[in-house]
Formats: sequence, structure tokens, C-alpha cells
Amino acid sequence: MTQTWNPVDYQEKGSFVPALGEPLLDLLAPVAGMRVLDVGCGDGALTWKIVEKGATVVGIDASEEMARAARARGIDAVCVSACDMAFDGEFDAAFSNAALHWMTEDPAKVLRNIAKALKPGGRFVAEMGGEGNILRIREAERAALQKRQLDLDVLAPKFFPSAGQYKGMLEAAGFAVSQMTLFNRKTRLPDGLSGWLKVFSTGVLSALSEDDLPVFLQEVEALARPYLTDEQGWFADYVRLRFVAVKQ
Ligand code: BEZ
Repeated sequence: MTQTWNPVDYQEKGSFVPALGEPLLDLLAPVAGMRVLDVGCGDGALTWKIVEKGATVVGIDASEEMARAARARGIDAVCVSACDMAFDGEFDAAFSNAALHWMTEDPAKVLRNIAKALKPGGRFVAEMGGEGNILRIREAERAALQKRQLDLDVLAPKFFPSAGQYKGMLEAAGFAVSQMTLFNRKTRLPDGLSGWLKVFSTGVLSALSEDDLPVFLQEVEALARPYLTDEQGWFADYVRLRFVAVKQ
């Protein structure tokens, strides 16, 4: 099951994703002359900030729509999945924000390909959803889908590893992990949970009929409301796994 992306929706409603990824850029510390691979570059909003620092960046994304949107910003972006990419020893650093959890097919191969793309001593600086990420959103979606004999893990599989699990996978792929933290990031949803689902859960929503869609959204909101609202409105229960690893 593939996720379809609408770069216009994403730029309008999902711009908090690259904005919240900005602290990662400090960890990457791009400088002129550095060659950087951005794994899952999306529409290139954050990638462009690396380019602005003078680094030479290649972005890859499995979505042609997103790679095209990144190219429209002037980024050297290629539509290829991290599982299929074949770069070899050419990058000083790899970077990834909010993308690795979408790569569920073979996460170990993704890490081996990133290691292969790096020069020895090259750094991999990334942030992804970690253990417990959007747990309440997923529980609500799962329950509403079960009523319809549909399976969330088939329609919208995600990979949210624990710190220990991912450290082991990075090491198995040939990295030494120099920093790793798992932390909560309560994230405001100005368009409510329905607004978030319409941008980030298209794999699920596209399985529903036009008539059922508003019913489904209401059901998911009703199930999640006790956990994901407070006096300021809706929020998402994001949990981030952030790390720096060095290719051995
Ligand atoms: C995220 O954690 O960034 C995320 C996870 C699943 C769907 C959309 C976003």
C-alpha cells in the first residue's frame, strides 16, 4: 500500500514538519563544500536550508510528486526509494527528517544503503518517529478501521523503533552511534485531527468510500479526543528518535 502525497496540501498544512526539523540542521552543521544526501527529502523545504549553507545536496524521495516539488525549488532531487538507491562512498553526511518511519519494507537495507552512500567517517544525522509515536492517533484509526474489516498495518504500515532496537540496527549496518535520544513532542494541530489525517493518512482515507469518509473522521476524532485535546485544542502525540551515527 503506497502513500500518495499532495505537495500543495503538504506545503500548506504540513509545513510544521520541516520547521520542527530545524534543530537537526544544527547537528548536521552543513558547511560549504560538504556533500550531503537527504534521505526522504519530501518537498525540499528543509533540504533547501542545507543548500543555503553552501553544501552540495542530493535529495531522494520515493514520491515523484515530492521529488518534483523539491526540484522546483532548485534542489537536485531524484525519485528513488532508499531501499533501491545505489550511491557508493560519495557523501560526507546523510540527513533525514521525519522520513525513515515511512520506509517499512526493509529498514535494515535502508541503513545499509545509507552506510554505503557515505565516505568512511561520514555522519548520519536523522530524526524519525520512535517507539510510541502517534500511539493514540493510531489506536483510534485502528479501532475505526476494524469496524470496517480493514487493517491499519496493511493500509498504513509505519516503523517506530525503540532507541535500543535502532541502535542495534545502525551498528549492524556499519555505524557507531554517537548520540541518540527519544523524546516526546506534543505538536499542535491547528486544523484538528481530521486536518492532520487528510494530509498524513491518505493511505487510510483512500480506502474509504466518499460517503463513509466524514463518518470515519468523526469516529476517529471521538475516540482520540479524550487523549489528544486540551484547553488549547487538538495536538498530536509525536515521539521523536533523534541520532547521530558515524560510518566505521
Ligand atoms: C510522523 O511522526 O512524522 C508521522 C508519522 C506517521 C504519519 C505522519 C507523520
